[in-house]
Amino acid sequence: MAAFQPSLECDNISNIHSEQTDSDLIQKTDERYRETLPNLPKGKGWMTEHLVQYKGFWLTPNAALKNLMWVQDHFKPRPTDILLASFPKSGTTWLKALIFATVNRTRYGFADHPLLTTGPHDCFPFLDAYLQEKDRSRFDLDRFPSPRLLSIHIPYILLPNSMTDHQSCRFVYICRDPKDVLVSKWLFLNKLRPKDLPPISLEEAFELFCQGISHYGPFWDHVLGYWEASLETPEKILFLKYEDLKKEPLVVVKRLGDFLGYPFSLEEESKGVVEEIVKLCSFENLSTLEVNKVSEQKFSKDTIIDNRHFFRKGKVGDWKSYLTTEMVERLDEITYEKLLGSGLVFGS
Ligand code: A3P
Repeated sequence: MAAFQPSLECDNISNIHSEQTDSDLIQKTDERYRETLPNLPKGKGWMTEHLVQYKGFWLTPNAALKNLMWVQDHFKPRPTDILLASFPKSGTTWLKALIFATVNRTRYGFADHPLLTTGPHDCFPFLDAYLQEKDRSRFDLDRFPSPRLLSIHIPYILLPNSMTDHQSCRFVYICRDPKDVLVSKWLFLNKLRPKDLPPISLEEAFELFCQGISHYGPFWDHVLGYWEASLETPEKILFLKYEDLKKEPLVVVKRLGDFLGYPFSLEEESKGVVEEIVKLCSFENLSTLEVNKVSEQKFSKDTIIDNRHFFRKGKVGDWKSYLTTEMVERLDEITYEKLLGSGLVFGS
């Protein structure tokens, strides 16, 4: 399914590339990728056979690394862009729905809202996967209307200056207790692991996660990159926690509205608009919709994922059903040490 785009007027089409420039740029990025790949350290993959370590982060060689280079070389951010950034399995799908519903709330009624028939990932595409995909025009994004809603798993430090620059796009970052991330990620990626590779045991996934070897890991470096940037430029990066969103969804959605430049008016609040958005995007609602039960999501030619895999339990603390006491102690200790002095804490 093609990415869902609201029919807004495009406010910036000045950076559409000519055919000639496109092919030169594409060739340059492909060359950079081909030259870089063979020299990178390899580690065991969770979904693919292996991951490669690029500038401190572990990425899938064929998808994430290539996609990253595409973003670095080709993406032209706009000040109006809203980028949702996350470490995988931290609540990306939920935030996609919440941001889409918040930003577009005057456009759609709740009874026939696009999210009822279109999955969150189709309403809010992954920037990196989108740029890389060969069966779409690589520069279609330039023609998307503003505000563009795009998501990434790219670590902050690997973003091009054009994106971290103070004047460019804004970010919402969602993070989650690493114990829940680990369990969610292990269950999710084992489902996607090709049949010819043996499944990864929880013990092995745990060991790899602790060493930082997981898709976009180390987890702590990913989180800290956005955390520190959010402290330096709070008007550019809104840092959210899955657990806070679970506990006080109305408070967080109102903060989201303020940050994105779509504050809820008193009239909207008294009419219960915030409550409607929270209800529409709740796990209970989204996970039971036909589109999220039977449709699939095509992220790239090789990565097609059933929408239902993005909705498992949606709980805080499900790690208690999976991790041993020793695992919990070790992971909490690593988290404590890595985050020490940063001011960032996760509830246990
Ligand atoms: P669990 O596996 O713990 O259930 P991501 O979207 O980053 O891939 O994260 C997926 C996790 O978010 C899964 O966690 C999934 O169930 C949960 N999730 C998806 N939609 C949600 C929602 N609307 N509310 C709360 N959690 C949600």
